[in-house]
Order: sequence, then C-alpha cells, then structure tokens
Amino acid sequence: MSDLSGTILVTGGMGFIGSNFVRYLLREHPAARIVNLDKVTYAGNPRNLADVADDSRYVFVRADVCDAHTVAEVLAAQRVDQIVHFAAETHVDRSILEAGDFIRTNVEGTRVVLEAARKAGVRRFLHVSTDEVYGSLGASGAFTEISPLQPNSPYAASKTGADVLVRAYHVTYGLPAIITRTCNNYGPYQFPEKFIPLMIVNALRGEPLPIYGDGLYVREWLHAEDHCRALATVLAAGRSGEVYNIGSGEERVNLDVAREILRLTGQPETLLTHVKDRPGHDRRYALDHAKIRRELGWKPEISFAPGLRQVVEWYRQHDIWWREILSGEYRNYYQAHYGGQRD
Ligand code: DAU
Repeated sequence: MSDLSGTILVTGGMGFIGSNFVRYLLREHPAARIVNLDKVTYAGNPRNLADVADDSRYVFVRADVCDAHTVAEVLAAQRVDQIVHFAAETHVDRSILEAGDFIRTNVEGTRVVLEAARKAGVRRFLHVSTDEVYGSLGASGAFTEISPLQPNSPYAASKTGADVLVRAYHVTYGLPAIITRTCNNYGPYQFPEKFIPLMIVNALRGEPLPIYGDGLYVREWLHAEDHCRALATVLAAGRSGEVYNIGSGEERVNLDVAREILRLTGQPETLLTHVKDRPGHDRRYALDHAKIRRELGWKPEISFAPGLRQVVEWYRQHDIWWREILSGEYRNYYQAHYGGQRD
C-alpha cells in the first residue's frame, strides 16, 4: 500500500473506529500528520488515545462537526489536505429512543464538513459509512455497492442522508469524495453499548447477557484493525466518486457469538437472557466486498475466532477503561434500556 502523507483531518477520532484509525495512521504512515476533531460525546473518550496524545504528528481539537466556523478554521490553520469523516452518532437503539442527535450530527454535521472541504479544496474526502444503509437481507445474498439504499432505523436513515449528500457534493461540485461502507466492527476501545463489548463486560462481571428476540439475527464481523487498513488503502488509492464495501465474510448468529464469549470467559450459558426485541430489527447483513479486493488488493487478515479471543483478552486486561464508562452516563442508559426486561 502506498504511504500516506500530508495533513489528514480525522473527525470523530475519539470514538471506537476513529481512535483505532488515528493510532493506525501514526504507526503505519510516518509521513502523515493527523488532526483529530472530536466533540467528545458520551462515546468519545480521550483515554482511547492517551498513548499518542504527545505525539508531535498528532493534534487534537475539541469541536462539534456542526460548528461550521471552527471546522473551516481548523482546515485552514492546520493546512488539512485530506479528510476522513467518522464523526457520527452510531448506536441503533439510541436512535430509536431519540433520533434528533443522529440527524443533527450525521446529516447536518456531514453537510458542514463537506462544505468546508469544498471551500478549502481538499484533495480527498473519505466518508465512513455502514452496510445498514442497504437495509436487511433474508437468508441468502449479499449487498453490493449498487444495491438500493433502504435504511430501516433512524440511525441507518441518518447515515443514508449523509451518504447521498456526499454523492451530491461529488457530482455537483466535483469534490473528490469516496464512500466506504463497512459491516459490524469489533476490537479494542469499542463502547460497551454495542453487542460484542456489552456481552464481554457483562460476562466478565457475571451479569446476564441480554439477547434481543430469538437471537438468530446474523451480523458480519470485521476486526477494527482490518477496517483501518482498508480505509488507509482507499484513502491512498481509491477512485473519487466511488463506493467501496468493506466486509469480512465472517457471518455469525448473535446467540453463537454470545455463547463463544461465555466460553472464553469461563461463564455458564445460564447467563443468556432473552429480552424484548429491537423494533424494526434487521435480520441479516452481509457485504459483497469483491470490489475493494479486485481494485485495491485489500482483504481481511484477522479471522473472527482469533480476533474475538484477542478482544476478550483486551477487555479482561483493560477493566479500568470499561469500569469507568460503566460508572457514568452508561448506567442510566443501561437501566432505561434494559432495566427489568425479560421476554
Ligand atoms: O453493520 C454496521 C453497524 O453495526 C454500524 O453501522 C452501527 O454503528 C453498529 O452499531 C452496528 O449496528 P448493529 O445494530 O448491528 O449493532 P449492535 O451492536 O447494536 O447489535 C448487533 C446485533 O446484536 C444486533 O442483531 C442486535 C443484537 N443485540 C444488540 C445489543 C446491544 C442484542 O441481541 N442484544 C444487545 O444488548
């Protein structure tokens, strides 16, 4: 893969995938400088990047992507020439409780960053999106980059809004923009409201593992490290105006993943607890990622079984990180969302 150079603005770099990406760039691309613009919401955590905070190639700016003045100022002052746009509200269940922040950050925030990018004349705008924009699949098949956009949750709808705005900025203004769509990611520093880290931290504490509905929903799992390498590849060599799916082919049934986590943590299956299903719950996602393999030569390298083992180990060793999260706002969310639920 070609080396990245210049100044790369990463929005949402304090979040799960964003922070993994910042660390990945600093490690693998020594000629790149990174400016991380992040609002530090409940899911953004400065501790995620504490180990690189003093790196001379790294700058952190605390700001909201909806703040047009600050975004434009940062692009100019830092001489940003490429943008990787992660900043987003990402949790489907929260979007079902209240969609306002999702529309604001994901749609309006993307418009603000696009507009600033256009005015600054950046040479690359990479928009990080999700397979959820395609909707849900039955038992077979996989989404390609030209599958229709049929989002089902408010979160997915907000990401679809952002995707079509990015496309419009490319077509209308010639902005050199690319969209990537990934499947479910897992890895270190993932906020424990998401399925895999939630199952791990509950298992490590001997708490019930809440399984929505029958638990037979299927997700495709990609390790964040593989995703970061794919994003760097697209940033370096992707074609403007294109969409690239970033998948792994590692489809798993939710119940099987939860059972494996119980096995890895030495906990009994009696902790599995079926709870009320998520409204509009997408049955299955699967991505066809032949295009990125064919055009850019990227392929996933971390298989799910060793990847999951490694991540369980990471959470076991970083209990200070997640225990601090569990003691904050998370407790109220967890109580409001799961409190007393049984099927
Ligand atoms: O596919 C990419 C998407 O993956 C990203 O765009 C989203 O930001 C990310 O949150 C994720 O969406 P999902 O809805 O698939 O992820 P989540 O971790 O919320 O749930 C994964 C599966 O596990 C889903 O079928 C719902 C189920 N689940 C989830 C939670 C939190 C449970 O059974 N129990 C739970 O407590």
